[in-house]
Amino acid sequence: AMTQSGLVKERKIQQEAQRNAMLDSIPKDLNRGWVDPMPEANERHIAQELRGIGLMGSELPEWKRASMGERPSFGKFSKKPIKEQREELPIYRFRADILRALTQNQMLIVIGETGSGKTTQMTQYLAEEGYAARGRIGCTQPRRVAASSVAKRVAEEFGCRLGEEVGYSIRFEDCTGPDTIIKSVARLRAPGILPSRLSLTSSARPAPPRYMTDGMLLRECLADRDLSSYSVIMLDEAHERTIHTDVLFGLVKDCCRRRPDLKLIVTSATLDAEKFSAYFNNCPIFTIPGRTHPVEIFYAKEPEADYLDAALVTVMQIHLTEQPGDILLFLTGQEEIDTSCEILYERMKALGSRVPKLIILPVYSALPSEVQTRIFDPAPPGTRKCILATNIAEASLTIDGIKFVVDPGFAKQNCFNPRLGMDSLMVTPISQASARQRAGRAGRTGPGKCYRLYTEAAYKNELLPNTVPEIQRANLGNTVLMLKAMGINDLLNFDFMDPPPRQTLLSALENLYALEALDDEGLLTRLGRKMAEFPLEPPLSKMLITSVDLRCSDEILTVVAMLSVENVFYRPKEKQAQADQKKAKFFQPEGDHLTFLAVFQAWQHNGFSSPWCYENFIQVRAMRRAQDVRKQLLTIMDRYKLDVVSAGKNFNRIRQAIVAGFFNHAARRDPTEGYKSLVENQTVYIHPSSALFQKNPEYVLYHELVLTTKEYMRNVCQIDPRWLTQFAPSSTSKRKKQERIEPLYNRYQDPNAWRISKQRRGR
Ligand code: CDP
Ligand code: MG
Repeated sequence: AMTQSGLVKERKIQQEAQRNAMLDSIPKDLNRGWVDPMPEANERHIAQELRGIGLMGSELPEWKRASMGERPSFGKFSKKPIKEQREELPIYRFRADILRALTQNQMLIVIGETGSGKTTQMTQYLAEEGYAARGRIGCTQPRRVAASSVAKRVAEEFGCRLGEEVGYSIRFEDCTGPDTIIKSVARLRAPGILPSRLSLTSSARPAPPRYMTDGMLLRECLADRDLSSYSVIMLDEAHERTIHTDVLFGLVKDCCRRRPDLKLIVTSATLDAEKFSAYFNNCPIFTIPGRTHPVEIFYAKEPEADYLDAALVTVMQIHLTEQPGDILLFLTGQEEIDTSCEILYERMKALGSRVPKLIILPVYSALPSEVQTRIFDPAPPGTRKCILATNIAEASLTIDGIKFVVDPGFAKQNCFNPRLGMDSLMVTPISQASARQRAGRAGRTGPGKCYRLYTEAAYKNELLPNTVPEIQRANLGNTVLMLKAMGINDLLNFDFMDPPPRQTLLSALENLYALEALDDEGLLTRLGRKMAEFPLEPPLSKMLITSVDLRCSDEILTVVAMLSVENVFYRPKEKQAQADQKKAKFFQPEGDHLTFLAVFQAWQHNGFSSPWCYENFIQVRAMRRAQDVRKQLLTIMDRYKLDVVSAGKNFNRIRQAIVAGFFNHAARRDPTEGYKSLVENQTVYIHPSSALFQKNPEYVLYHELVLTTKEYMRNVCQIDPRWLTQFAPSSTSKRKKQERIEPLYNRYQDPNAWRISKQRRGR
């Protein structure tokens, strides 16, 4: 059952019919409040329906009916004064202890249940204790949403407006204003310019902390490897083990060696503390005792064929039969969450208005923060909140009032596919550690229940004890480029907590070599240095930089921006045909990249208007983000004097620039079936959403592969095969594969030598 996830999408369609049939058969007379007893007959009826679609075995009597007469006690979520709220957090009692531990030690590991106050409080304690006067207090979050939502919360607690004093910094978004107490904003700083020392205003208050994604701090290391503007670095949510956090482990650890005044705190809800301590020079581990309630765990009797459907039925069942308390359902991604929200909404609607209201709230990182803050609002009396979230709700966000957790056991993971030589997001079973963490979310405010939609045997035998760190499964292109740009050449001997597979490192080096970001000796080229400045995957930066020479950078900027956002086209279930029609109007014969360009330009011609987006089934949110991304990239282009030139209607030049970055993603139509990728000779297909789906040109180039039922090429561009030799100088990748380049030993043993070596680099 755990391996069938790839088929979920296909099944979703098949089961739509079944689902509608079920909706029709749910009793329409179920019109009592859910705190009132339900007539036996109706309850049996629902149970039968649930059983009918394979969810509820009669062996699960524990999934019982609501106890009667109990009123929801939402009063307890009413807001107390900030000071009181802060003092009630579990971490508060340990304020002095933690601060003392940090005085005595340079590094510290702090473990505490989610919600104990690590993220929001520790930085403030440090600021109050004077650490802010010595430099910045930086706290990294692996997730964008967490960085902004936590900064917002801390700004509130600190009593200032976001962007003024408490800032946050995430890729393509910087929320710091002219009045920001901490003025040295390191993001995207030109190389070579050391950060100006902290410039504090004469405010009597301590400087508040700065929250940022781990990727942003990594980028700051590029400009200043000593992180000299910081007095404390807190690497939060360390258990997530993102590539960026893992690389920061090594970099900040090294930084601490060079800078005895720097303090490092590594925090997490659950992690192998001993292992972390061993890595960080046997530093002390500080544990904040948890304040958790028991959580009852229910397992599925049989493996679920369709976890999504099982999950939604479980949510309905909880809503209709259980005591007050909010529901948290873990799903794998934005699309799945949006679809599920719709289905759930339809099902609730089908039940009629007198069934208690279920407030359905999606949570994923692409959601704008205004929408996300709604998840923290308590549900009004008599209603129930149901949050459909990605892994983000596992530990990064704390939502009060959750009593029921539904855990299908899957998460989307970024996996490097060595066969394809690229990353793909794959739905994979979670680890036991993850499952425990998810269950724990139900026991924060009181006893809770967790419904695991997999069998107990699957939990014990199929789930890995711990999640494999991203660095061991993902593409390292960007990371390797950044480390190279920091002057770290001997990557095989970099101090990783868990080193990535040698093969992945070599493959990243090879790709960078093919892109000409590295020279024959494996050293950074001038082009590579420029590429490292862009917060983009190396092929995208290559494409952008090449577009300057090809005099089409204006268009490529837009293409890159559009490729960086998700879900540009809106396709509501009930208006699919209409949406597809509108979309087809933008289709360009050259393919999806130019279609994106056409959409953006049309939007621009219409004054970036929102109504225009609604009319054309375009997601305003995605467009606004693309606009932001474009602006940010433009700033970097300006800084490096990279000209922004328009190609006008010369679409060839635009496509040639795309080839310069993505020549490894070329495919040729196969006489028998689909396409064959040129590098790996892999059978691939044009995604049905593509402008080229019906056209099937002989040579195409794809932006990415997505694996659902087949290996699909998404965002496809028609190309002239001759461009592959013209614009991809090192694209004879088969030959290059045979002469694998080995990373060099570290010829710059001296920690300061990297500065000198940097000047010698380039050609
Ligand atoms: O980091 P940790 O999980 O230990 O806790 P935290 O994120 O500092 O959260 C402490 C408390 O702050 C939570 O219990 C929430 O009540 C509150 N909080 C909030 O209201 N809004 C946020 N965005 C984050 C936290
Ligand atoms: Mg936290």
